[in-house]
Amino acid sequence: MNANGQETPETGRTLSSLTGEYTVRWESRSSVRTRPRKTIDFEEEGYFFPEDKQPLLLADEVASLGGKAKNDILVQSFYKYLHDIVNLEIKEIVAACSKILYADLPVEFSEETKLNTYSVIIDEYYHVYIAQDMILQLEEQHPDLKPLDYPISDSRRAVIETKKHLDPKYHDVFEILANCCFETTLVRELVEFFNSPGVHPSIKYYVNDHMNDESRHYAFFYDLMTYLWAEVPEDYRQAIGIHLADFTLLYLSVESEKLFNIELLGSFIEDREQARTSVEALYAGFEITPDVPIVKNVLRAFRNAGMLDHPSVRAGFTRIGWTV
Ligand SMILES: [Fe+2]
Ligand SMILES: [Fe+2]
Repeated sequence: MNANGQETPETGRTLSSLTGEYTVRWESRSSVRTRPRKTIDFEEEGYFFPEDKQPLLLADEVASLGGKAKNDILVQSFYKYLHDIVNLEIKEIVAACSKILYADLPVEFSEETKLNTYSVIIDEYYHVYIAQDMILQLEEQHPDLKPLDYPISDSRRAVIETKKHLDPKYHDVFEILANCCFETTLVRELVEFFNSPGVHPSIKYYVNDHMNDESRHYAFFYDLMTYLWAEVPEDYRQAIGIHLADFTLLYLSVESEKLFNIELLGSFIEDREQARTSVEALYAGFEITPDVPIVKNVLRAFRNAGMLDHPSVRAGFTRIGWTV
């Protein structure tokens, strides 16, 4: 196995995104190199968040509040989306990239891979800069926006909870693998997420631009996951592998979205208990199973990176009752 673009015997994949080919793409295509500032044109029509992706709009209480409330809910949902980017890109992705560069790991990375890692860090900081710029534009336009409590994201909670079951020796490698998983499993969903009809053109433009970078990150983290899994000593695969199933369940749960929606609905109807009951009803019946499309993405990524073949990973999934 090597990271110089040669085929890996374990998975038959060519890891070209760990080589200089990646930087060539980054130099010519990355947002920070090639795109202008993102300004929101408030004169244009459109919702700030796709209506069909905010289940709160289906609640009876919201239907009776009228058009202004609907609009405010969608602005608040976009605001939360930006807030998540500001938090996650640096606290999760950049933190994991820093470990590739500076942590004492049992794996060597080539100088090209490290250069690619710097470019990912630049991208993610730039994404945070843009998100923060948009937050300020939104606040200026909507000075009446009520501040809300933002719950911890499911991805961050999944990392924190899983680390509790791991010897500290394995934390850094696990965190890098977890972030490889985050960066490879939801990109297509996020690209399509804001393409719903009725979404404001400035928001569509902004999201598509972000996803232009994320599609390249997808290739990088996919190759990184494959390389790292194959190269770490066997005890790492055993120790981390057994927890990947539980990690997947936590990562893909919609707890964070639910908590935020309770908070948001509560701010409109000023009855938190009623808000909780309504939101629980909206999400009733949603279950994480291997047939859910986003779950399939995660399993496919694990499989293609050579991880699902490992007995320890398989044992973890058997423990939660999944056949993978
Ligand atoms: Fe990003
Ligand atoms: Fe990214």
